[in-house]
Amino acid sequence: MIIDKVFSMKYIYTTLTMLCVLTANAQRKPIESRVDSVLTLMSLEEKVGQMNQYNGFWNATGPAPAGGDAATKYQHLRNGWVGSVLNVQGVEEVRAMQRVAVEETRLGIPLIFACDVIHGYKTLSPIPLAEAASWNLDAIEKSARNAAEEATAHGLNWTFAPMVDISRDPRWGRMMEGAGEDTYLGARVASARVQGFQGSDLSAPNTMAACAKHFAGYGFVEAGRDYNTVDVSAYTLQNVIFPPFQAAVEAGAATFMNAFNTMNGIPATGNQALIETLKETWGFQGVLVSDWGSISEMQAHGFSRNLSEATAQAANARCDIDMESLAYVYHLADLVRKGVVAQARVDDAVRRVLRLKFQLGLMDDPYKYCQNPGEWTPSSSPWAEDAQNLAEESAVLLKNKGILPIVKGQRIALIGPMAAEKNSPLGNWRVSSEDHTAISLQEGLRSVKGFKSLDVAAGPVFLTGAINFPTEASINTSDTAGLFQAVRSASAADVAILAVGEHGFQSGEGRSRLSLHLPGLQELLIREVLKVQPHVVLVVYAGRPFILPEDIQAQVEGILFAWQPGTMGGPAIANLLMGRRSPSGRLPVTFPRSEAQIPLYYGAYNTGRPGPISEVFWSHYGDGPNTPQYPFGYGLTYSTVSYSKTELVTLEDGTLALNATVSNTGKVEVDEVVQVYMRDHHSAYGVRPLKQLIDFRRIAIKAGETKSFTFILEMDQLSVTDAQGEKHVEPGIFSFWIAPNSVEGVPATMDWKIE
Ligand code: GLC
Repeated sequence: MIIDKVFSMKYIYTTLTMLCVLTANAQRKPIESRVDSVLTLMSLEEKVGQMNQYNGFWNATGPAPAGGDAATKYQHLRNGWVGSVLNVQGVEEVRAMQRVAVEETRLGIPLIFACDVIHGYKTLSPIPLAEAASWNLDAIEKSARNAAEEATAHGLNWTFAPMVDISRDPRWGRMMEGAGEDTYLGARVASARVQGFQGSDLSAPNTMAACAKHFAGYGFVEAGRDYNTVDVSAYTLQNVIFPPFQAAVEAGAATFMNAFNTMNGIPATGNQALIETLKETWGFQGVLVSDWGSISEMQAHGFSRNLSEATAQAANARCDIDMESLAYVYHLADLVRKGVVAQARVDDAVRRVLRLKFQLGLMDDPYKYCQNPGEWTPSSSPWAEDAQNLAEESAVLLKNKGILPIVKGQRIALIGPMAAEKNSPLGNWRVSSEDHTAISLQEGLRSVKGFKSLDVAAGPVFLTGAINFPTEASINTSDTAGLFQAVRSASAADVAILAVGEHGFQSGEGRSRLSLHLPGLQELLIREVLKVQPHVVLVVYAGRPFILPEDIQAQVEGILFAWQPGTMGGPAIANLLMGRRSPSGRLPVTFPRSEAQIPLYYGAYNTGRPGPISEVFWSHYGDGPNTPQYPFGYGLTYSTVSYSKTELVTLEDGTLALNATVSNTGKVEVDEVVQVYMRDHHSAYGVRPLKQLIDFRRIAIKAGETKSFTFILEMDQLSVTDAQGEKHVEPGIFSFWIAPNSVEGVPATMDWKIE
């Protein structure tokens, strides 16, 4: 066919031109001019194609899809109308799909391969909220580094992590995915994770683009109900929500992701003001990808009448990539031709996408990430040891009346639905790993010598029916079979370890809960065991704070909160229970006494009626306390640690500093998380929290050792950001604590005057 011949000649010419452009540029020109060179070759449809992202839509190593959506998407891929894909698993799949993009499209622009590598690829570290509980920024960065190593070895080059949403509502299932309630800790963790994923060279074959998400405010969904309305003040946005995102920009995050929710009544995906903050005020030069279908969802929000309007609103707001709305691919070129969306908007987006592909090295070598990974099981991988270490450092000891560590030579009964669990500890974001590959607590304990016997009894069935990423968990609340055997096993032991909690697929996306109590028959199991066994330790697995009834709280002798500890959770928790290491985790989120208290967080404002007073006219409940079950920053160790008074000093160069000493007065070495809090008592730019974390240091302190700490105060730490985003440092009364958590310690206070 003449057309074919002309086309093929043109095809050859264009491909040769493209190759010349790339090759010539590879030696001498900076990325920006190389981007411009490619841009000049592209048709409008090909430009829009770079703004289109599909979920892995067929088994690329198999036959090309012949029908349905996959066939349409495959044709789009061959047309050059796809710029990136997500959830393609395995090097061979990646290679096969990349080949189509590189060899069968007119320009041969390679794809970026993305996935939610949230806390590991196949080897899973503890869930992100657990990692934050370690307060070990080096370990958190290393964890992201390890995840990138393993993920890039399987062909990926873009992760949709870190999630940096601050949240104060444990009813929201995605609290597990972030770093908790605190802005300062959240910002430090965001920076560590971005640096871990991206390393120092994004073009290296073992680093990958990070993605700070979800911009912005997703953690403030009303009533903790996922995807619900968000309506926060500009002041909260500036002082609580934005700083972790700003930290991600400063850390060089290559990409951001829109949030599903509205902000000031406008969906984040189409919110020009919000995105201008990112791309203009903060100067973000990277790629902004929509969340899954979030462009299309602007119709349901009631912001867009139809997909074409949603397309225009998202493109004009500068959302660069459409993830799975099929909006840009079907409507954007037409909207540009009609002048509804400026060509410049498209060119800016495509420039950002191409820049990222050059930065990743894909334009010079589309198959550079397609190495052949070694063969390993998650628990035997090169990264398993780090995952175990972080699981050990994340667990939080909430109560210990002398029962922990377990004295050797005792008979142990290990009871409960989590005793032998190999799937739940992986959490819900394990999309690239294999189910049931965690080492269970039972297996972990069996590998630790030192007890006379270990009898295991699961007790009543926990789950009925399928439990997996998209399925609502169904929990047994009636069948008590197994209860009698579990109680009998407990009564025959010296110590009963009750491994309880929520399943890994009960937290995460789409997993909001009204109750934070242990689901199913677990409280019944605990109470029945307590009737026959006074020496009970609870090991609680969850992706969020949990609530224990007062009677159980009072009777058990120990509580170790294990979060969802990942692949190596079993050996990690066993090591802590048997005293090979002391627990050292500190809560990155407040544990309420009741769901009715939520949102409950340490960094609250004083209000005009903090009370208490004898009459009812102060901020309180008539039927319960304001205080949490366990406060932010709280965690015990197997030693005792004492803090001196906090002193305010002025150094020789005039800078302000805080001094304190911390002594390990117990018998074992521990890792202590020394925390620094501040209160700015008055501000004309907006009231300030009763306490705000401004620094911390995790450090080992030997038994009997005393360590001195000096924290330099930076002006930025004393500043307040007003609702317009302007920072201000004002003189006034400031209090400071160097303390073990957010409720202890005696402050040092100054009436600071700026000379
Ligand atoms: C999901 C999540 C987002 C994730 C994306 C791709 O809906 O909201 O965090 O990265 O889709 O899986």
